[in-house]
Amino acid sequence: MGTNEQPTLILKDIHKSFGKNKVLNGISIEVNKGELVTFVGPSGCGKTTLLRIIGGFTEHDSGEVILDGRSIGHLPPNLRDTRICFQNYALFPHLTVGENLAYGLKVKKWDKKKIRERVDELLTLVQLEGFKDRMIDKMSGGQQQRVAFARALAFSPKVLLLDEPISNLDANLRVLMRDEIRRLQTELSITTVFVTHDQYEAMAISDKIVVLSDGYIQQVGSPIEIYDHPVNEFIASFVGYVNFLPAKIDSIIKETDAAVVSTEYGKLEIDIEQTEFAPGTEVLLVIRPETLKIAPSNGTVTTQNVVQGTLRRYIYSGALAKCHVVLGNDKEVIVDIQDPRDHVPLRENEKVDVTVSRNVHVLKKRA
Ligand SMILES: Nc1ncnc2c1ncn2[C@@H]1O[C@H](COP(=O)(O)OP(=O)(O)O)[C@@H](O)[C@H]1O
Ligand SMILES: [Mg+2]
Repeated sequence: MGTNEQPTLILKDIHKSFGKNKVLNGISIEVNKGELVTFVGPSGCGKTTLLRIIGGFTEHDSGEVILDGRSIGHLPPNLRDTRICFQNYALFPHLTVGENLAYGLKVKKWDKKKIRERVDELLTLVQLEGFKDRMIDKMSGGQQQRVAFARALAFSPKVLLLDEPISNLDANLRVLMRDEIRRLQTELSITTVFVTHDQYEAMAISDKIVVLSDGYIQQVGSPIEIYDHPVNEFIASFVGYVNFLPAKIDSIIKETDAAVVSTEYGKLEIDIEQTEFAPGTEVLLVIRPETLKIAPSNGTVTTQNVVQGTLRRYIYSGALAKCHVVLGNDKEVIVDIQDPRDHVPLRENEKVDVTVSRNVHVLKKRA
């Protein structure tokens, strides 16, 4: 028996090239029991390749795949205790839903009664009771997705591998199925590696996100860590909009873990957790639009952390209003107003005060 603390799946320094095309450049990840970990990154960054390496469908050049403490990199897919759900579902169109679900169980020589029970169980799980005898090609995209998902669960694998399982569905259904997959995954506590190119999907479904680009891991973290504490500009721009404001550390206020920074538009006092910022350091303030406050300006700045600008555009969209504000000559920042009905009225081309929260994320400016 392994200890509970040991990660279920470990990837150690995985490298993979196709000819001269170096796709994976030393990928190391740990997936804990019951966790849903998402690989996210632009198309072509190697997500499917990595998933296929875990499942045993693609051979890696070097590195280790470890499942429950055992190196499995040399084993064929059927001996791995992992199950993959391919992006195109790979269902048999000329078989019924029930036959698709029973197929693998038959191959494994389960007895008929046990197969029937398991198929019924799986149909209930994905809410397709009553569809057992329908042909796959008479099922909608969303229903086919459920069948593919159920089939992957048939043997209760130790690790479930899902390759863009909902990317082919339309937007509303995608959200529905995303939440459904997450609900089932949590309920069954099944360790899952999920692949998507959609950052928002990754944010909504994951315990842990692994951002891949150019063959490297850019950052591993919870959705909150990725959003609030991005390690570089690429990650900061990865989900949602972000304002970057160049600044310089003027002084550190040790007593309050704060710093005074100067920007082209005025001085700000901000909280600093990091200790690496000596006075004089050039930094980038990473400011989310929803953390800025905006108000009509009376011309003089009296409050701390206020910079003045001009409201260029005000875009109302119900739950949100986006304000495009120009600081100085040409620095545009975006301020989001949540529930704009309750906000003081703002007019385009008027001067505004923009308040910057003390709680901004700080990146060291790259040399
Ligand atoms: N069997 C293969 N032979 C050659 N090149 C491949 C093969 N599979 C994938 N690639 C290449 O590897 C890169 C990563 O592909 P893939 O893992 O499918 O990316 P993603 O799933 O992130 O879109 C791409 O440049 C792709 O063309
Ligand atoms: Mg892919």
